[in-house]
Amino acid sequence: MSLRSKIAGIGMYVPKNVFTNNDLTKYMDTSDEWITERTGIKERRFADRSGETTTTMAVEASKIAIERAGITAQDIDFIVFATLSPDYYFPGCGVLLQRAMGMKDVGALDVRNQCSGFVYALSTADQFVRSGMYKNVLVVGSEKHSFGLDFSTRGRNVSVIFGDGAGAVVLQPTEEEDQGILSTHLHSNGNGAEILAMYNPGTHANHWIKDQKLADFDDAEIGEMFFSHAMIDNAQVFPFMDGPSVFKVAVEKFPAVIVESLEANNLKTTDLNLLVPHQANLRIAQFVQKKLQLRDDQVFNNIQKYGNTTAASIPIALCEAWEQGRVNRGDLVCLAAFGSGFTWASALLRW
Ligand code: ACO
Repeated sequence: MSLRSKIAGIGMYVPKNVFTNNDLTKYMDTSDEWITERTGIKERRFADRSGETTTTMAVEASKIAIERAGITAQDIDFIVFATLSPDYYFPGCGVLLQRAMGMKDVGALDVRNQCSGFVYALSTADQFVRSGMYKNVLVVGSEKHSFGLDFSTRGRNVSVIFGDGAGAVVLQPTEEEDQGILSTHLHSNGNGAEILAMYNPGTHANHWIKDQKLADFDDAEIGEMFFSHAMIDNAQVFPFMDGPSVFKVAVEKFPAVIVESLEANNLKTTDLNLLVPHQANLRIAQFVQKKLQLRDDQVFNNIQKYGNTTAASIPIALCEAWEQGRVNRGDLVCLAAFGSGFTWASALLRW
């Protein structure tokens, strides 16, 4: 039988600082009721402002994953790091993680697929393990959103949704017939790229944004520069999201990519022990659950406690599910994501 990869160790890290919906009302015109009703979120974690970065949180999650895999950081032979909130515009967080953990001079690949980032990263790592090229691949999703959100009322439709945290897994080869990643499925359609995006700083020179008429770019200067005072004054350095449009596409693509993974392996939704969806919004997860007629015990959600942690949300949720005994050897687990790009993806695995 051909080689497959399995998750040999999993870890997560969330900052200590809990920020409730009521805490947000000190900064913007919002309410616990509005946020809970629309998103299911009750609280999120925010990184320590001076001490924690996307990389430092990744280090903490990685340490646990590596230890649980029964190896050391010296054994890691490749890093795949997914984030949309890197410490630097460049270089990526992969090399910073390599340095911080004192690893050998291994390859470090950064993945930029936002909410689908972890599944894209896992799929990439899976190919390296299946091909026999690497034996211990560290796959990380980490985000420090709190540094780049508009916490005034102007940005409330975006900023109430996101939280900080990190999750990591170690992928290793397995020859067990009933274990490992069965298949991964990756998709994108760039027609929705500007519907959920952070435009600046960037090299777009306003070209696409003007065409899409999605943002009120009224200052010609913005079109000419990589970064300008006007961008800051007009809050154009924060993420933009047309929430209702994202919702519509998400509830179509999420179920489709889950079903795609099951059909590819001649399996059905009734075979699924646990679906771990990207924690975008509880309402989206509930819609998917209903559409696929899954029981409550077949779906894991923890967005209520952490908000949407983008590339970190799936490994954080999977780690908590595993720690709570919701994932056991032989279980059929589906990881599914949808996000900015648009991108959507799934991974089906036997634990
Ligand atoms: N508190 C109070 N009121 C708010 C807030 C807030 N935080 N944010 C927006 N509002 C107001 C708006 O100003 C608007 O007021 P108006 O009617 O007077 O103009 C009203 O609430 C409704 O705004 P909508 O944007 O239409 O709100 P909607 O019901 O669509 O809910 C939400 C917004 C929660 C973002 C929803 O569209 C959604 O869930 N979309 C999916 C997007 C998503 O999940 N993104 C997650 C990140 S992407 C990903 O991970 C896939």
